[in-house]
Amino acid sequence: NQDKPSNHNINPSANLDGMSKGLTNYGDRGFSLFLRKAFIKGAGYTDKALDRPVIGITNTGSSYNPCHGNAPQLIEAVKRGVLMAGGLPMDFPTISIHESFSSPNSMFLRNLMSMDTEELLRAQPMDAVVLIGGCDKTVPAQLMGAASAGLPAVQLITGSMLTGSHRGERVGACTDCRRYWGKFRADEIDAEEIADVNNQLVASVGTCSVMGTASTMACIAEALGMTVPGGASPPAVTADRIRVAERSGELAVEIARKQLTIDKILTAKAFENAMRVLLAIGGSTNGIVHLTAIAGRMGFEIDLDALDRMGRDTPVLLDLKPSGDHYMEDFHHAGGMATLLRELKPLLHLDALTVTGRTLGEELDAQGPGFEQHVVRTSANPIYPQGGIAVLRGNLAPGGAIIKQSAANPKLMEHEGRAVVFENLEDMANRIDADDLDVTADDILVLKNIGPKGAAMPEAGYMPIPRKLARAGVKDIIRISDGRMSGTAFGTIVLHVTPESAIGGPLAYVQSGDRIKLSVANRELTLLVNAEELGRRAQAKPVVEPTATRGYRKLFLQSVTQADKGADFDFLMPPATAGSIPKDK
Ligand code: FES
Ligand code: MG
Repeated sequence: NQDKPSNHNINPSANLDGMSKGLTNYGDRGFSLFLRKAFIKGAGYTDKALDRPVIGITNTGSSYNPCHGNAPQLIEAVKRGVLMAGGLPMDFPTISIHESFSSPNSMFLRNLMSMDTEELLRAQPMDAVVLIGGCDKTVPAQLMGAASAGLPAVQLITGSMLTGSHRGERVGACTDCRRYWGKFRADEIDAEEIADVNNQLVASVGTCSVMGTASTMACIAEALGMTVPGGASPPAVTADRIRVAERSGELAVEIARKQLTIDKILTAKAFENAMRVLLAIGGSTNGIVHLTAIAGRMGFEIDLDALDRMGRDTPVLLDLKPSGDHYMEDFHHAGGMATLLRELKPLLHLDALTVTGRTLGEELDAQGPGFEQHVVRTSANPIYPQGGIAVLRGNLAPGGAIIKQSAANPKLMEHEGRAVVFENLEDMANRIDADDLDVTADDILVLKNIGPKGAAMPEAGYMPIPRKLARAGVKDIIRISDGRMSGTAFGTIVLHVTPESAIGGPLAYVQSGDRIKLSVANRELTLLVNAEELGRRAQAKPVVEPTATRGYRKLFLQSVTQADKGADFDFLMPPATAGSIPKDK
């Protein structure tokens, strides 16, 4: 019954009894509420408009963020849904982060966005929130912030961009960006053609059209139960996407009334489902770091070794670039996440609750049996027989490292070779293309100081093939670093080496000429140098950790954790008392 006295924050007639979000404290609660009401009335609201659940809507639109270029239409549709369901929509700005316009890199800003999101959800009166995110770091930041703030929340994805067409060939950001730039560097195409394709790679607003980090996090958000069913896949400019937005607004009012808080959704089972999905979509390696950070906000620890075991019986089913051939809009036409989840059913916790108030299994049943399509494979005929991501251990990575095996070269996955070491990004930039670089295709490139403290973990783990090798036709070489790589990249690339070199992890003491052994089959990453020698090197040239004198960078360097803890800030994570995920089988 909507006529009874409301329990919402803007209306002064209610909510004086132990409300969760305290009013601005002038020492007189009645006066505080009176002031709040006076100011909101300055925007032209009547008492009737204020006497209903208040739904916050995060506006992450920005001229710097074409991935969120549909934010105005989404907000309008969310508001419509909120009003239809009897709520009061209140949109407000937060930080927006775009991959290409974030210096030094977007990962540096992810935790800042999570803090901004968390504090604005806390500070402003709202009974539930719709989080509008899309570009790589935004959805993780919002889920981290909302998890900490604790109120009912729905994640709304901005949606993928459309694909373009270049001289008859279908193209999309950004696996094809890399491919065309490679052709241009190799003189296979001219300046006119590279300018032409530049107009086609990003054919509309929306997020990257392949299974990069944005698409990965969209699928993970749906697998977690945080979106409306089918919320991951509709492209940004479609009517389907706008309808998802309208439904998200409606749903936010429902969960506000039911007080379906985020802790009821982000459970151990939900995180396990999300891990299955990450493995089965051939998702971005960044997905692990983000999922670890989100789970960390709920007091869970991600067990990388158990995740690896989970990967051994989770096939890659989704045929999207860079592991496969298609684009996000094809996934949407193939039925989106429902098609994938139906195929994964035996591996999922179907009793995990979603924001609809129904379980994942109930939502899947409601969507019917599916239809013939060519984008999601069956378990009997997978793209890759195991999960896309494997976890490596060894004296070079005592805290673990990962490799995206579905995008690696099978010939290099069992290999021993000589290390060719670059001390940092600048050293690599200076020497990688030199004609006198001492390197062969059998060597292993090692890049130091691109971990969380070293350089805020840029996507520089995808080192270029040294020019002399590229000219000789070499397409892949083993690369090892403490950094990340873009979800749109491919190659035999070991990432997230933990602990990182900048804090004195073993990686810091690798020298050119050392031998390194990689065995993906045995999940092994070994530096063939004994502990005494490594100790001697550490004593001769101890690592000095990077510091900063002021500002956010100082906070970042003081507080950022290692990749296996999600590279979150230590002071934002509650004690990890909720247990480890996945539960071992
Ligand atoms: Fe925004 Fe790729 S740049 S999703
Ligand atoms: Mg990316």
